[in-house]
Amino acid sequence: MGKYLLNKSYSEHLDLDSSPTLARGTLLYRDDKRNLLASLFTRSDDVTELSISDAKLLELACGEKSIAQIAELAGETPETSLQFFCSWEEKAPGIFYYPNDIDFKKKVDFARVAGQLFDRAEGQKSLTRVNDLTKYHKDGMSGGAFDQFEEVETTVSHMFRIPREALRGRTFGAALADTLSKKSIFQKDQVSILEVGAGTGFLTKALLEQLKSNNSSTKVIYTILEPSPNLLKSQIELLAEHEPIEFIENSIADSNLPESCFDLILSNEVIADFEVGRVGINCSDSGLKQNSSKKLPEDQKAEALKSRFKLETEDKIQLINTGAIEFIEKISSALKVGGLAYISEYGTLNEAPRQVALAGHNEHSIQFEHLLKASRAMGLTENLYSLTEYLDFDTKVQILDDLSFNALNTLLLDRLGMPKLDRVSYSKSELQAELGTITSRIHNLHFQTVENDDNLGPALFYALELQK
Ligand SMILES: C[S@@+](CC[C@H](N)C(=O)[O-])C[C@H]1O[C@@H](n2cnc3c(N)ncnc32)[C@H](O)[C@@H]1O
Repeated sequence: MGKYLLNKSYSEHLDLDSSPTLARGTLLYRDDKRNLLASLFTRSDDVTELSISDAKLLELACGEKSIAQIAELAGETPETSLQFFCSWEEKAPGIFYYPNDIDFKKKVDFARVAGQLFDRAEGQKSLTRVNDLTKYHKDGMSGGAFDQFEEVETTVSHMFRIPREALRGRTFGAALADTLSKKSIFQKDQVSILEVGAGTGFLTKALLEQLKSNNSSTKVIYTILEPSPNLLKSQIELLAEHEPIEFIENSIADSNLPESCFDLILSNEVIADFEVGRVGINCSDSGLKQNSSKKLPEDQKAEALKSRFKLETEDKIQLINTGAIEFIEKISSALKVGGLAYISEYGTLNEAPRQVALAGHNEHSIQFEHLLKASRAMGLTENLYSLTEYLDFDTKVQILDDLSFNALNTLLLDRLGMPKLDRVSYSKSELQAELGTITSRIHNLHFQTVENDDNLGPALFYALELQK
């Protein structure tokens, strides 16, 4: 679960002018009988029962007040209050945020970078065959397909698998169908679609339903290519009621797609799973002989793609999304002339791919500029959008942030004897509808707009459209 702890306590820096503010991922629950603290920063997974006076102090630490001001408002002495906050810093480092303290901000930023999402894959040390996810997808996904996406690898489409306010009351699949329906391919009587990597099948189901409703006179012929038997099973069950869909159990890397066969090829949150290779390896540094044949095959491939597509890279060793570039080459031949591909994934335009550690496997963010350059060289016309723009998210709606969700779902609700929430996006009113009156008793729930969501939310994703 998303815990990140600062290595060193901050308590030694605290004084009466410090303004401890409960950090995201720490919730305070107060009713007539109970005062509870549920925090991702405590070292045990327990919810802490607080005295009324302690709860009051923590509640006052939600508004950027100094310890001296908090003490006064709570009717405590400044010394006792200072001691109280110091003791919580010791017990649960990171539990407070100090908005006015620049040094602290640096420390927090460091902890985030070090402990959270992107574990930068630098140099040769980290390429310990992180590349071969084929085995992971074939038999590494233990547990049910749904649980995989609910707990291990929550995709954006999973977060929006039911109609959500931030998507203007639509599901991810329906929103994608709305965007795609405006493309000229849907003016044809028949559209042949290939989806690569369909996960649980939720996205496909919603997409097919909305495509049907938007384009009643267009017949859709649908093929899914999926390497994971577990996920395939879920897709077959979920899509049982839809007109015949062809399911192919295979990895894209091992499949020979027919030429000029598809009007539309879709891959949503798939290409970060693909192989990467390194360029810029100095063989003498790595103990390898100055002989490129000793390099790993994926590194040789990366060098070849860099030189073939004139990809710009950093002066030091960096990763190349070799699998994603090869994927584009494959789909380019499989698309009909005039056909379209939609590829969505997280990444940036110009930054080198970074390793992202997920439970059980690693992925790599995408350097989209490389994909654009390679696509152009293959004769494709490319358009790059932010995913929020492509799917027409309502960027004014505020949604519950990930750390607040985790503290609520893994700690507090259980303690309150309430059922867990589904892992979906929650606007303020959607959360209120789920939790009812207790919502107002929970302090420090953080909401932010989709654009400002700094977890692996839609704002970190691009939608790449390629036209043949
Ligand atoms: C993160 S999931 C995304 C699922 C779904 N598209 C979504 O948006 O929820 C990645 C999907 O890609 C599939 N996948 C991974 N590697 C693949 C490969 N080499 N060829 C085809 N599909 C692959 C996985 O099995 C899984 O279905």
